[in-house]
Order: sequence, then C-alpha cells, then structure tokens
Amino acid sequence: MLFSAALLIVGCLGSTVGLENGLARTPPMGWMSWTIFWCQIDCIKYPGKCINERMYKDMADRLVEDGYKDFGYNRVHIDDCWMEMKRDKTGTLIADRDRFPSGIQALSRYMHAKGILLGIYEDYGNKTCGGYPGSQYYLEKDANTFAEWEVDYLKLDGCYAEEDDMAIGYPAMSDFLKKTGRDIVYSCSWPAYLEDEPEKVDYNVIGKYCNLWRNYGDISAKWSSIQKIIDYYTENQDKLIPAAGPGRWHDPDMIVVGQNTVTPDQSRTQMSLWSIWSAPLIMSNDLRVIKPVYKKILQNSLVIAVDQDPLGIMGRMIFNNSDFAVYLKPITPVDTDKNLYSYAVVFFNRNTDRSSVVSIMYGQLGLNNPLGYFVQDLWENQYLGLKRSIDVYVATIPPTGVKMIKATLAHKFFIDTPTA
Ligand SMILES: *[C@@H]1O[C@H](CO)[C@@H](O)[C@H](O)[C@H]1NC(C)=O
Ligand SMILES: *[C@@H]1O[C@H](CO)[C@@H](O)[C@H](O)[C@H]1NC(C)=O
Repeated sequence: MLFSAALLIVGCLGSTVGLENGLARTPPMGWMSWTIFWCQIDCIKYPGKCINERMYKDMADRLVEDGYKDFGYNRVHIDDCWMEMKRDKTGTLIADRDRFPSGIQALSRYMHAKGILLGIYEDYGNKTCGGYPGSQYYLEKDANTFAEWEVDYLKLDGCYAEEDDMAIGYPAMSDFLKKTGRDIVYSCSWPAYLEDEPEKVDYNVIGKYCNLWRNYGDISAKWSSIQKIIDYYTENQDKLIPAAGPGRWHDPDMIVVGQNTVTPDQSRTQMSLWSIWSAPLIMSNDLRVIKPVYKKILQNSLVIAVDQDPLGIMGRMIFNNSDFAVYLKPITPVDTDKNLYSYAVVFFNRNTDRSSVVSIMYGQLGLNNPLGYFVQDLWENQYLGLKRSIDVYVATIPPTGVKMIKATLAHKFFIDTPTA
C-alpha cells in the first residue's frame, strides 16, 4: 500500500448503469488462444499448438505456476474451432471428440480447481467465423448448455449474421444467459460488425446488455496492427469514453505481449495504453516459451493497478504533436470534496524511427493540486518525488515506446512517504 491512511471515500462518479449482472466490475484479465494458435486443428502435425483440451490445461497451469494468476490473470478463454461440425440429435453443441475427449465441463472443473475461470466462444449468426455451428435459432439452448458446462464467460462473435438482427439477437442472448442463473460474463462483438455504420452503434444500449464488446478489427502481433487500434481508439475517444465503466468495457482486443514479433518497447506501449483505457488484459501468446523480458512486462503490478483501478474510467489523449502524445486517466485516490483526482499519465512516441524528448510542466497536464502529487515512474519502478504544477517532467521516449507515471494526489491525511 502506498498510503496507510487512505481516508477518502470514492463517491458516485458518472451515472452510467451497466448490465445488471454485477460481473466484470474491473476489466477481465486472462489468456485467449486466437492470436497465437488461431484455428489450428491439426494436432498430429502441430502437437501442443492446436486447439485441444491439453493446450488450454497447459495455459491454466502456466497462469497459476508462473505467477500470472497472482497478478490478476485468472481466466482461460477458448476461441473458435472447438466444436464438432454438427450439433447432436437434440440440437446440443458438442466439443470436438478427438480434441476435447473429456468435454467442456471436465475442462471447466479442471480450471475451477485451480481458481481459474473458463471462457468459451460462439457466434450469433448461422456459423462461427471458422465455419462451425452458430447460435442462430439456438440462443437459449446454447446459453443453457454453457451454464450446464459451468462456463464463466461467453465471447459471442458476429460472422454469418444479418447486421440488422444484432440489435435483437445480442440482447436476447444477454437475457438467456441471465436466466440460467449462472454468472457468465458476456462479451459481444456486436459493434465491431457495425464499424462502417457508426451511426447504428449506441453504446448506451450495448452497455445495457454486454459486459464488454469488441468495436474494431482483430489485432495481430505486429506494430502496424497495434498502431491502428491506438489510432481508432484515440480518434473515437469522445464517443467511447462516456460508455465505459464498471461492468461495461470497450475491448480493443488481445494483449500480444510475449509474441516475439512485438518489441519490448511496443509491448510496454500496448500494456500502458490498454490500461489507460481500462481495457481487458487478455493475453494471446505461448506462456510455455515466453521470454523473461515479456513476462516481466505482463507482470508489472503498478501498470495493472492502473488498468484495474476501481473508478473504471477510460482515459483520454489530452495532447498530441509530431513528437509525442499524452494520455491521462483519473484514478484513485480521489478527494471528492475538492473534486481532485490522482492520475496515470502515458507519454507515447508514435514515431518508428526516432526517440523524442518530453519536457512539460505538470500543470500543463492539468495536475494542479496545490499540495502536489507523489510521482512514480511505473516502468522504471522509481519514485520521482513530490511534484507541483510548476515542476517539469522531462524524459526521453524510445520510438514506438512510452513513459508511464502515476501522480498520486498529496493530501493532508496521506501521511506516509510513498515507496517505489
Ligand atoms: C442463416 O440461415 C437461414 C436458414 O438457412 C437463412 O435463411 C439465412 O439467410 C442465413 N443468414 C445468413 C446471414 O447467412
Ligand atoms: C497526432 O499528431 C500526429 C502528428 O501531427 C498526427 O499524424 C496524428 O494524426 C495525430 N493523432 C491524433 C489522434 O490526433
């Protein structure tokens, strides 16, 4: 704990009401197969790297034994390609008999015994994107099947569906899931399929039915892909920010840190900005062979705490020039009487070919608390001191990299000196 006397009470901030299932009050964290193993179903040629129960168990083991779970990564998510090509005679979905011989319920019990939650994938349309049976005409049946299998999370994709049906189908599935009585976090791909028709995307409605939602194209483990998502989220921030909050999150897609095609600097950028946005931190990598440098980035508890801050505010870009952009997120502790926040700040150098130097007064960032802020560098894990509005923050940011600081509100009741 940074302070022994955190006396401030966090008031009611914002008036958005999310899906009333009480779930995902902080952004979900875990691991998902798609952006590393895709739809690889050839387990003879690619043992250990195909979609089967062994691989998901391996990842659950790694989350627990390599410490990820202690940092909050407590979910394993099955993505597409887990099913048989046909439902059974009763219309029930079945997991591929060769690749999931024990079935999904056995898999969720394996996870639960380790304190890991299991996520599953389906599609709202006729077929999944990979061509497996979709939930159309079977929404209630599939909701009941997932509940029977003791699944804790559903990602409902939107391939092979009529876009105009989505405003009926996605809410219907939300109700069916709720009716099962099981706590199932609901992730909707609904707005992602309306990307070309933004006027049809009403996040107030989507947030009533979904705990989180994809709204943009799939990520891949390349800088150009990460950069595109950053641009989309930044350009649309005025529409996105009011819709986010506890229980209702935008999902800019998986964390690709740990794949060797993304550099450590780019990895820190992804973790930092996703945390500024209160985004889900769902990794897609091979935890069995991950390099220590990436593991350390994924296990930075200071950055994760920004992502998981209980206020659940989505931060915004407040400044941008050709050298760097600044992103700011209000976080706890807060002085509600004076309406003063603490902040996480990210300085991002979007250039791919040169470092840039930041030199900016804290006051220019809007950090004007007369008593100042205790400032900590979150990637260097270094305490920078008590800073007031006229003090200057100076740093050099590597290409496609970031600096990230936390500025904790100084207050007469906060008596401890923070330690890094
Ligand atoms: C889904 O299947 C039904 C029944 O075969 C068909 O009428 C409908 O057009 C299909 N929808 C899509 C989006 O493929
Ligand atoms: C930020 O500034 C750069 C350089 O001027 C520009 O290319 C980019 O589009 C800007 N980004 C946003 C989101 O305004």
